Amino acid sequence: MAFSTLSSMVPAIALVLALAVLWGSSIAEALSSPPRKVLVTGASGRTGKIVFSLLKENPSYSTVGLVRSEASAKQLMKNVDCDLDQLFVSDVAAVPEDGEDVPQLLKGADAMVICTSAVPRISKMSVLKQILKIPLNVVRRKPPLYFRGFRFHYAEGQNPEMVDYEGQKRQVDLAKKLGIKHVVVVSSMGGTDPDNFLNSIGKDKDGNGDGDILLWKRKAEKYLVEVSLSFH
Ligand SMILES: NC(=O)c1ccc[n+]([C@@H]2O[C@H](COP(=O)([O-])OP(=O)(O)OC[C@H]3O[C@@H](n4cnc5c(N)ncnc54)[C@H](OP(=O)(O)O)[C@@H]3O)[C@@H](O)[C@H]2O)c1
Repeated sequence: MAFSTLSSMVPAIALVLALAVLWGSSIAEALSSPPRKVLVTGASGRTGKIVFSLLKENPSYSTVGLVRSEASAKQLMKNVDCDLDQLFVSDVAAVPEDGEDVPQLLKGADAMVICTSAVPRISKMSVLKQILKIPLNVVRRKPPLYFRGFRFHYAEGQNPEMVDYEGQKRQVDLAKKLGIKHVVVVSSMGGTDPDNFLNSIGKDKDGNGDGDILLWKRKAEKYLVEVSLSFH
């Protein structure tokens, strides 16, 4: 596939296999039973795109992708052969209106694969600063480019707390509302390590600002564990 490396496909392929194994579907069963409906959130992201694409190619599944915006939907359609009617646009960081109905497209789903993640934006100025330091680093026999000197920020309302915690909780709640019994979260290692480098993304050099993406992901995982006890 043009959009991914083999290593980044491994978690996605493993997920699709896990879905098949967990459902205990033999090939014969899969052929004789109606396709199982799977919702893939963050479907336009690196991982979500692979999961969405692999499930879509498999006739045992009917797949719906959830994307943040129409722009993300268009981007996904450039890379994966799918129609707009297989995609649902929803910003998980936005608070849903009271009494909002569950859209028809999502009804009857058997499983949800959560692949959303807050997307950091790189500060071009910080990249420029590090590039300008290259000659000095070379003279000092240090690695030429100091990647940890790059700075990132999250768009307003799209930080890890809003996307990876609040947004993920909303997805779990939606799964519950839809009667989905099987939720797979594509999360990350390091959720118990506040000093993990990924937690510093979005913070300034003094450690202030948005960040802690792994810690927020971990909190959302715990929420899923708590909630799933009540509806499995
Ligand atoms: N990439 C890897 O190699 C890898 C490996 C292991 C685990 N993981 C885990 O897999 C998960 C996904 O990572 P990724 O690398 O695929 O991330 P990614 O490429 O940045 O994709 C994140 C996806 O989340 C969507 N999103 C962000 N905010 C949203 C919002 N408010 N509402 C709806 N959708 C939103 C993005 O939509 P837009 O397209 O509109 O920005 C994008 O589709 C993460 O938990 C990560 O830790 C990734």
